[in-house]
Amino acid sequence: MVVGGPADCLDLGSLREHVGDCHRCPLGDSRTTLVFGSGDPHAELMFIGEAPGRNEDLTGEPFIGAAGKLLDELLAFIGLEREQVFIANVVKCRPPGNRDPMPVEIAACTPFLARQIELVSPKVISTLGKFATQYMLDTTVGITALRGKLYRVGGRRIVPVLHPAAALYNASNRPLLFDDFTRLKAVLDRGDAGAPLVVTTGSADETVAFGERLGALLAPGDVVGLSGDLGAGKTCFAQGVARGLGIEGPVPSPTFNLLLVHRGTVPMYHFDLYRLERADQLEDIDFHGTLEADGASVVEWADRFPAEMPDDRLDVAMEVTGEADRRITIVPHGDRAIAVAEGLRRSSAGAA
Ligand code: URA
Repeated sequence: MVVGGPADCLDLGSLREHVGDCHRCPLGDSRTTLVFGSGDPHAELMFIGEAPGRNEDLTGEPFIGAAGKLLDELLAFIGLEREQVFIANVVKCRPPGNRDPMPVEIAACTPFLARQIELVSPKVISTLGKFATQYMLDTTVGITALRGKLYRVGGRRIVPVLHPAAALYNASNRPLLFDDFTRLKAVLDRGDAGAPLVVTTGSADETVAFGERLGALLAPGDVVGLSGDLGAGKTCFAQGVARGLGIEGPVPSPTFNLLLVHRGTVPMYHFDLYRLERADQLEDIDFHGTLEADGASVVEWADRFPAEMPDDRLDVAMEVTGEADRRITIVPHGDRAIAVAEGLRRSSAGAA
């Protein structure tokens, strides 16, 4: 028996022992069998469901009922078998009548899930449905808005998908679930392309040069969202991007204009949202229309209106780390942005 907490358990076996005949929340009194989770203890892909249902409660195995059969079908669709993945749930005991797990139950149970994730150490976690997704992404946003995108938490890639049960209740969800698994396979196949790219520059000139390397890779329709405090170097970076786009004239800060247009090999739409008070004012400058126009867009203070930024974009966060030192973190969102970030990673490695 391991004394201490889940962190003291050094493998899944000792964690299972530590969980024991759990009665840390009221579900312990109503369940038949605790469903710890199962599969490859070193799987690269881990699934997290919601809670055991009736069949799981009777057997102690996750996802063996109707939703589990569909999960097997989805796994086969992406060329995987159950033995190759690890499957766990947000809560390990069946809520009576399959009701939603309650916050107090989730709070009591998820320290064990957190330790399972650390011990299995998957590269990719696919969260099945709302509860697992909200737990992993620490949000209250619904699954419909979160599915279909790739997230990163603690160095792991998180791919939220619909819960298989959603397709059992409503057949029109079935194709959506298969779409989700197609995206999951793309994430698995792509490896870690799309990981944040972190670069430190030691002078304004180096920041401009780094921006120039990004600018040289941009094409019409690409969007770069810049964030960082006043003085973090956003305009320097934008000046570099402009150079990379073949723009020769001066590129001043657009603070007082909200938008400046520069003509180069590829036009650059240079926004500055610092002075905007409300998102609806973006309509006055035809923000969304311009992002889709014939140029590449650089948006300073993009983090002021995150919901207005397109799904496909490169987020560039700038931080002051020393008198002249700046840390620049680039996070690509979407396939096109990932390809640009990979190009930038290669050109930065070549320049180092
Ligand atoms: N649904 C879940 O979320 N988990 C299971 O283990 C079974 C059904």
